[in-house]
This record gives sequence, structure tokens and C-alpha cells, in this order.
Amino acid sequence: MKVILAQPRGFCAGVVRAIEIVEQALEKYGAPVYVRHEIVHNGHVVDRLRAKGARFVESLDEIPLGARTIFSAHGVSRAVEEKAATLGLPVLDATCPLVAKVHHQGERYAQQGRRVVLIGHAGHPEIEGTLGRIPGPVFLVQSAADVEALDLPADAPLAYVSQTTLSVDDTKGLIAALNRKFSNIVGPETKDICYATQNRQSAVLELTRVVDVILVVGARNSSNSNRLREIGLDAGVPTYLIADKSELDLETLRSAQSVGLTAGASAPEILVDEVIEALRALGPVEVAALPGVEEKIEFKLPSEMTGV
Ligand code: F3S
Repeated sequence: MKVILAQPRGFCAGVVRAIEIVEQALEKYGAPVYVRHEIVHNGHVVDRLRAKGARFVESLDEIPLGARTIFSAHGVSRAVEEKAATLGLPVLDATCPLVAKVHHQGERYAQQGRRVVLIGHAGHPEIEGTLGRIPGPVFLVQSAADVEALDLPADAPLAYVSQTTLSVDDTKGLIAALNRKFSNIVGPETKDICYATQNRQSAVLELTRVVDVILVVGARNSSNSNRLREIGLDAGVPTYLIADKSELDLETLRSAQSVGLTAGASAPEILVDEVIEALRALGPVEVAALPGVEEKIEFKLPSEMTGV
């Protein structure tokens, strides 16, 4: 069997930074530190940090007064930030800088007197955060039907921003629908979709051209991992999202000559290595990687950690 690795895959700069913030906080301040929501959407990452003394909570009310508090990479609403300040919680913000950029962009559009349309998935923590950042009302759309249903004047001053981990193609379609329906709408094209999401989607599309089946290593609640799976399926290649090697169904892979392997932006490379090892149960495995974009992006840690 040939295993062909997508390039790039796995951790993005925002995930690396968020994990580093928790690890450095544990070192600097000692355990426990409290993290609001999963720091990134991956159970393995969360379990490893939990074992080191991180405590994961969904509400600030679960955090003892004065305890070191970290906001996850997905970002938080203004209300959460203000509540943390009111409670006097010392906060380290692990919001990905590219999510924060979307927040600022949305805020700027609102200040210009435009009503903001947010393209994204209801209920995702990034969307909860972004909705709660932009002075409202903000209109959330996730499908062409939602755009159709927007009850706003055709010449209303509008702007759109989007979740960072959407499908590039789906988002283009929604932006085109918005532009058709509204004459005075501005936005950043698809540039809100972050570099890591775009690169991983291009790489999985390359994989679809050369493999029989694709495995995406990533968590069920990871938005960007789900989009990778959809791209494989849309191209007609059987594509499975697996959390780790324990979810591998070797029987479905027995007849595959070539298996494509990628990982969502919050999935550690060790899980990919373990999947390759598990595939060896089917016979000899030859591993190759597709050429792809080399990512050199790194994000600075918050000034509280660097002393700058
Ligand atoms: Fe940030 Fe994109 Fe990763 S928004 S956390 S760089 S997937």
C-alpha cells in the first residue's frame, strides 16, 4: 500500500501558539491554570494539557476568583472579556491573531455605519465570539437559502466577514450570492479564511487526484477538519474523518492501493504517525509526501509571556 501525505497538514501557527501559551502559563504560574473551552478542538491535545494541570471549563463561573485564565484559540465575545475583567480574572488571550483580525474588521465595518453579515456555522465557538464582538445586529448566514432569506433593503450599506475555517469554494459561492442581492456590500473576498485552512484544502484537493481513499485525522468538532473531509467527498473520493488510529476501519482500506493522509489544523503529527503504523497491519506500506506549500508563519506570544 502507498500512503501519500498531504502537504501541509496538521498544526497551524494559531494552534502552536495557543498550546504554547497554556504550557508556558503552567510553567510560569504553576498548576492549575483555567482554560475557557477546549484550547483547540482536539481531545489528545486537551488530555495532554489536562495531565499537566490545565483545567478546561465552559463558563467563567467555574473559575475560582483570581485564578489564571486562558481564552481559547477560537476567541471570545466582548461580554466574556468584560465579565472576566469584572471578576478580576488575570487573563491570557490565546485567540488566534487571524480570528482577532476578523473581529477588528467586523468592528471597523460597523463603525463605518455598515450592517455586518457573518458567514459561518451557528454554534461554533469562533462564531459565538465574533458575533459578540461586532456591534450589532449581525446577520449570520451559512447557506444560499440564508442569503436569500435576508430581509434587508437591496441598497442597504452592508459588509461581510467570515469564519476562518470555512470551505473556500462554499464561501466564494455565498459571497457571490450576497453581491448579487445587495448593491452596497463590501468585504475582504475570501481572505478571512486563514492561510492554514486554504493551504490544507488545496493540499487535500491534490490528494484526491492521486489516491483511492483519504483519511483526515481530526476531531469531530474541528471545523477545518470537517471541511477537508467534505472536499475529499465532493471530489468523489471516499474520505473518512478519524480522531486517531483507534477509529481506523482496516477492512474498508484492504483493497486500496493508495491511501491519502492529512490532518486538521489542531491534530498533532504523532496521531498521523500512529495511523501509518496501524496501516502496516494490512501489509508493507510505502510512505511519500506530495510537494506543497511550505508554511513559515509564526505568531508572537502575548506580551505577558515574553516580557515585551
Ligand atoms: Fe488561526 Fe487558522 Fe489556525 S484561524 S488557529 S491559523 S486554523
